[in-house]
Amino acid sequence: SEAEKGAYPYYMLKEIDEQPGVMRNLIEHYIAEDGSIKIDEELLKRLNQAQRLYIVAAGTSYHAGLVGKELFERLTNIPTEVHVASEFAYNPPLLAEHPFFIFLTQSGETADSRQVLSQVNEWGYPSLTITNVANSTLSREATYTLLLYAGPEIAVASTKAYTGQIALEAILAKAMGELKNIDKAENFNVAKELTFVANGMQALVDGKSEIKEIAEDVLATTRNAFYIGRSIDYDIAQEAALKLKEVSYVQTEGFASGELKHGTIALIEKDTPVIAIITDEKTAKHTRSNTQEVLARGARVIYIASRQLAVAGDQIILPEVHPLLTPLLAIIPCQLLAYYTSLQRGYDVDKPRNLAKSVTVE
Ligand code: G6P
Repeated sequence: SEAEKGAYPYYMLKEIDEQPGVMRNLIEHYIAEDGSIKIDEELLKRLNQAQRLYIVAAGTSYHAGLVGKELFERLTNIPTEVHVASEFAYNPPLLAEHPFFIFLTQSGETADSRQVLSQVNEWGYPSLTITNVANSTLSREATYTLLLYAGPEIAVASTKAYTGQIALEAILAKAMGELKNIDKAENFNVAKELTFVANGMQALVDGKSEIKEIAEDVLATTRNAFYIGRSIDYDIAQEAALKLKEVSYVQTEGFASGELKHGTIALIEKDTPVIAIITDEKTAKHTRSNTQEVLARGARVIYIASRQLAVAGDQIILPEVHPLLTPLLAIIPCQLLAYYTSLQRGYDVDKPRNLAKSVTVE
């Protein structure tokens, strides 16, 4: 079956490698030959009627929501908030008059998200669940569902569901924006751009041996590590840090690079690994100046940079893709760094301690 490991030593590596295929599946399922998007127009209209979108999720899906906020705000002009489900459940924000809720969930079973959806249903607001599991609880209980078609995700650390969710958010935002005649959405050729992403992902997974060397060199014995970035690169940094900490038990923080100087830079010692994500043109030079500050305190800095923003000496170079889709590429080396660091330390990367694939208790 699809869920078998085959020649792979671990599901996590298999699932990392499957990501170019996940992109192609989404194009096939959601975009017609003529470029039109195959999403129920009633759903698009109801989304566009919302004054504000509320994305609710947990864990890696929450991080996919952070990127989703960028996509929805830039392509649809609808203000978008992203909430951790367990926080929203007991302390909901003051809502807009016409809210629309988007639940992101690989499994469709996360109890914290289910609890929020029950509340949303009691309030009588419309909702969409984006999930990998058809007929899951969150799918059944939401007004609408969109499926990821990513195939079963077995490794506890989520990889292909994250990139699948972001790609589907991009397709959805494009369709919504186009319906509203927003230039940015009309000019965003999402099928073409996601094809570039799939090719770029393939190049990155093919280059995994270089990432393995960096993991062995920089992360094998460290006690802690930081991922830093600004804007969309901060979103990526948060997911990259979660990946590394959950499978390698290295204490890792994903930090807004400009905020380091307000306290956290005190943690930088000689050889502390700091991995800088640089894919956002507006903030690239600011993040680079933050890396100078940590270098001056002895940090070992690894740069993950988009080709057009890279400078000599950057260790990991990402193929160029649309500026809104860079998380789909930047996360690949970060997933591989986490995977190889876990193996190097002798852990079962598919079944990290204390964690469950789907958390069905609150
Ligand atoms: C668990 C898993 C994470 C996942 C989170 C949310 O904590 O270990 O990998 O991101 O649940 O799961 P969901 O299925 O709702 O995306």
